[in-house]
Amino acid sequence: MRFTTRPGARAHETVLSGVAPALTGRGLVKTYGTQRALGGVDIEIGAGEAVAVVGPSGSGKSTLLHVLAGILPADEGEVFAGGLRIDDANETARSELRRTRFGFVFQSGMLVAELTAEENAALPQLLGGTARGRALASARDWLDRLGLAGKEKHRPGELSGGEAQRVAIARALGHRPSVIFADEPTGALDSRTGRETMRALLDAAAETGAAVVVVTHDRDLAAALPRTVTMRDGRIDTVHEDSAGVVS
Ligand SMILES: Nc1ncnc2c1ncn2[C@@H]1O[C@H](COP(=O)(O)OP(=O)(O)OP(=O)(O)O)[C@@H](O)[C@H]1O
Ligand SMILES: [Mg+2]
Repeated sequence: MRFTTRPGARAHETVLSGVAPALTGRGLVKTYGTQRALGGVDIEIGAGEAVAVVGPSGSGKSTLLHVLAGILPADEGEVFAGGLRIDDANETARSELRRTRFGFVFQSGMLVAELTAEENAALPQLLGGTARGRALASARDWLDRLGLAGKEKHRPGELSGGEAQRVAIARALGHRPSVIFADEPTGALDSRTGRETMRALLDAAAETGAAVVVVTHDRDLAAALPRTVTMRDGRIDTVHEDSAGVVS
């Protein structure tokens, strides 16, 4: 894997603070045809920090997540992970980075239907070359911690929505990523299961020291995270609302 480090400020900041931000996006622009999805976004996520991304439908939340995760190339701007520039790395390097340093939780699990819960949870480790026995043992350990003891051999079709999302969380965490990206991870769940699932995600991430970027439509869920970033028309909205909805 080959990354280039950006000369200048970032390197100095990193040396001075000793800890590089988990993720930095600078001047991110992304246009689909004539639709501008990101209109120049600057964002920094600290190591181990949990951030909610909220905003109206179509405001660019998923696009931002995909650009930060190196899934989607930006038209302009730079992305750094752990102080290393990743947006100019080739697809092979970005895909290795996604597999080793990032974890993903999507709205509806995206579990492999033919695999058991423990096999699904072990997948990133198996793909990364960890021995099968060790990967499965680690997956079972995470499933147990996420309250899924006894469900290890269930296939996704034999799990509830909330259970399937906890398998997805186990899968996102097992290889100890530095950043977990979650796009509407509770969007398909009822509000109570959604709250429990978000709590499980945040606790597990805190335990491993992973930063979390969660897109959610649910303001109550966003309020459970220490920081909220609001998107509007492809930009980060700097107008803040307090919990009573008062704009300042
Ligand atoms: N593959 C695509 N091709 C063309 N336009 C797209 C594509 N993906 C997204 N867009 C457009 O880019 C804009 C931002 O989309 P994005 O999916 O990032 O929004 P979002 O904030 O995640 O919305 P939602 O809350 O509905 O998921 C929208 O106007 C959308 O129509
Ligand atoms: Mg979206």
